Amino acid sequence: MHKKLLIPGPTEVSKEILQEQTQYLIGHREKAFSDLYGGITDKISKYFQLPVEYKPTVTTGSGSIWFDIVGRSIVKEKALACVNGAFSERCAQTLASCGKQTDILKVEMGEAIKPEAVAEKLATGKYDTLTVCHNETSTGVRSPIDEIGNLVKKEFPEVIFAVDAVSSMAGDKTLPQDFNCDIVFGSTQKCFALPPGLAVGLVSDLAVERAKTVPNRGAYTDLVDIFEFEKKHQTPFTPNISLLYALNKRMDLLLEETYDKVYQRHQDMANYTQAWARKHFSMFPEAGYESITVSCINSNGKDVKALNQKLGEKGYLISAGYGKLADKTFRIGHMGEWNLQGIKDVLAVIDEIWGF
Ligand SMILES: Cc1ncc(COP(=O)(O)O)c(C=O)c1O
Repeated sequence: MHKKLLIPGPTEVSKEILQEQTQYLIGHREKAFSDLYGGITDKISKYFQLPVEYKPTVTTGSGSIWFDIVGRSIVKEKALACVNGAFSERCAQTLASCGKQTDILKVEMGEAIKPEAVAEKLATGKYDTLTVCHNETSTGVRSPIDEIGNLVKKEFPEVIFAVDAVSSMAGDKTLPQDFNCDIVFGSTQKCFALPPGLAVGLVSDLAVERAKTVPNRGAYTDLVDIFEFEKKHQTPFTPNISLLYALNKRMDLLLEETYDKVYQRHQDMANYTQAWARKHFSMFPEAGYESITVSCINSNGKDVKALNQKLGEKGYLISAGYGKLADKTFRIGHMGEWNLQGIKDVLAVIDEIWGF
C-alpha cells in the first residue's frame, strides 16, 4: 500500500505532478528548452515577487548543493555559520570542507538564532559571509531571518547573507527582499511537493558580484557561470529536464493558489498540529519560534516506532526525531500538497491508535 508522506521531505507528490515527468525529452541547448526553462524562472520571479536586483536559478542537485555553492563561490576569507541543529551544522561543515575558514555560532538545539548574537559576532569585522538556516528541519525551529537580515543590511553591508530555506520555501514566507538576504534556497522535495533532485535559488546581483572576486569556484558550484547561462535561459550542465517539467506545472499551481494563500494554508496546518501537540505532549522548539512546515514534538516516552507501524497500515508515514533527538521527539511534516483537512484526518487516526 502507498503510504502518504508526512515526513519532512520527501513529501507527498500528486499523480498529476508525477505524470508531468513522463513527457519526451528535449535537447538542453534547443530553443524548446530555453522556452521551458525561461518560462519556469519567469514564474519563479513572479511567485516570489522578485525585485530586479534578485534573480532565480534552478540547480540540478538537491538543496545541499547550495552549501557547496556558498562555500566555493561566496566565502572569500571567513564565514560565520550559525548552528542550531543537524542541517545548519552540515552547512558549517561544508563551508569548512570547501577550504574556507568557518567560525560557528552555536546555540542549543531547539533554540532559534537571534539577531543580537549574530551582531556581536559580526561586529568583530572578521566575516565576509553569514549563513543561517530559516527552518531547522531537525528541531522544527524557525529563526527570525528578517530581523537578522535587517541588521546585516544596516550594519554589515559588506557581509553576504545566505539563508537555507530548504524546508520552508514555497510554504512559509521566504522572500529574499523581505529577509534582506543575498541568497535563499529551497529543495523541490519539500514544500514544492516534487520529487527530490532540484533546488531553487534566489540570488542578489551583489552575491554574483562577490562570486566574481572569489577564485577556485569549481565547476558545478560556480555561481558566475550559473548566471551567465541564465542569460540564455540555460544551465551550464545537462539539467534534470523531466523534473523541470514537473516544476513548471508546480509553479502554475502555486501561482494559481497565490503566495499569500499558500502561506496561510501552511500556517493553518501548523496551528492545528501544534494545538494538538500541546494538548497531548509539548513542542520541542522554544516558544514563538515553531516552524510552520514541520512540527517537532516531545514524545514523552511514547513509542513512535510502534505508532508508525500502525499508521503505515492506515496508509500514512510520519517521522521519528532526527539524529540526537531520535528517541526524544517525533516530527510531523505539514507541507507541500497537504491541507488542513488532511492533517485533521491524520491526527484523528493517531488519536485512535494512541487512545486519546
Ligand atoms: C534545513 C535543511 N537544509 C538542508 C537540507 C539538505 O537538503 P537536500 O536533502 O535537499 O540536499 C535539508 C534536508 O532535509 C534540510 O531540511
